[in-house]
Amino acid sequence: MKFAASKTKIPNMIIVVIIVSLVVSATLIIMMKHNNIDVQTNTDFVNVFSQNSKQSYDADYFSTIQDLIVEDDIKFALGETIFQDKSLSKSGKTACISCHKINLAGSDNTTLSIKDSGSLTTVNTPTLFNLSKSNMFLTDGNTLTFESIFTNQQSDHFSMLGCTIHELANKISNDSRYQLQFQKVFGDDVSIRLILESLKYYIFNLTSPNSKFDVLLSGHIPALNENEFEGYMIFKSHGCVTCHHGERIGGNILQNINNKSALEFDRYLVKVPALRNIEATSPYLYDGSVNDLPQVIRIMYGRQLNRSYINEDILKIEAFLKTLTSEKFKVKQ
Ligand code: HEC
Ligand code: HEC
Repeated sequence: MKFAASKTKIPNMIIVVIIVSLVVSATLIIMMKHNNIDVQTNTDFVNVFSQNSKQSYDADYFSTIQDLIVEDDIKFALGETIFQDKSLSKSGKTACISCHKINLAGSDNTTLSIKDSGSLTTVNTPTLFNLSKSNMFLTDGNTLTFESIFTNQQSDHFSMLGCTIHELANKISNDSRYQLQFQKVFGDDVSIRLILESLKYYIFNLTSPNSKFDVLLSGHIPALNENEFEGYMIFKSHGCVTCHHGERIGGNILQNINNKSALEFDRYLVKVPALRNIEATSPYLYDGSVNDLPQVIRIMYGRQLNRSYINEDILKIEAFLKTLTSEKFKVKQ
């Protein structure tokens, strides 16, 4: 009896062992895919790449910035004119470009910026590049369309110029040069809708293609040197990528900043900032409190990852982050 019983147990055991190992290996594969346990060395990377040479690398996390060709030059020029026009502000001294400096990827290099009224903005001025596919604007991320940045009663962004959207529209429609330009571009009179459309067209055509990282993503392996590539691997394996991903490498999810010093945003959800052109957009964080890139990375380890770090990793990540700078903003060495 005993013998017969163990005879049937053995095949049962084998089946159980097979099932358990199948489940364990499937789980491991899924975990490696999702948790990003990425242990590729440069050579592995070359192999992976040559197998899938048509696919862009890491398309799950990132995509390249396309170099847009501006289709409607005169519409772009109209948006640019409004963006640069100081005479539209109350004092005649402030324009959009006073804070959103194009050579600094649309940001500025001060902690907080001075509004036309003379008071300071509540947050650091963010980049305006590569916004065209965004569906989350401003720091709290609650503004879901470009237009609502300017039409929201509480936070009408034209207040930066010391005026309301109606005052601005009146100024523009009383200016014969603008009247002519609107007729040329839209075949129509000046209106709030068309003012916003011109600004949107201009800003949504501000793109920053051709960073070293884009070159890597599109398949050119030596684009990153070893240090930069290792920084990229750490960026993924230590979890930076869970918040900073997508085309802009950020800018598409909300996160608790858990930051006791950050002005009124203390403990609130904020939009994770986009990291493209980070080299050109200091100072950092929403309160503009940190100037130094390695220091921000250390802060991320403490506040966002809650883990310790070694300085070597910080420097490698810094080297990687600098590969996100478009050739448009590359500081000449
Ligand atoms: C005094 C400085 C200042 C001026 C002038 C200014 N801005 Fe801003 N801009 C900011 C700040 C600060 C923010 C972030 C505000 C926030 O998140 O609450 C911002 C945010 C934005 C955003 C949203 C960016 C994002 O990632 O969500 C756009 C678009 C924008 N500004 C366009 C403009 C335009 C167009 C003008 C001119 C009509 C203008 N700005 C004038 C400082 C300024
Ligand atoms: C859990 C989400 C999360 C993770 C993980 C994370 N970050 Fe951040 N990151 C944020 C948020 C939120 C901010 C804005 C914080 C603030 O303004 O106080 C930020 C800000 C930054 C900034 C400053 C951007 C700017 O324009 O001000 C850099 C640089 C940065 N992170 C890099 C990293 C790196 C490198 C890692 C990995 C070591 C990382 N982050 C991990 C959410 C995250």
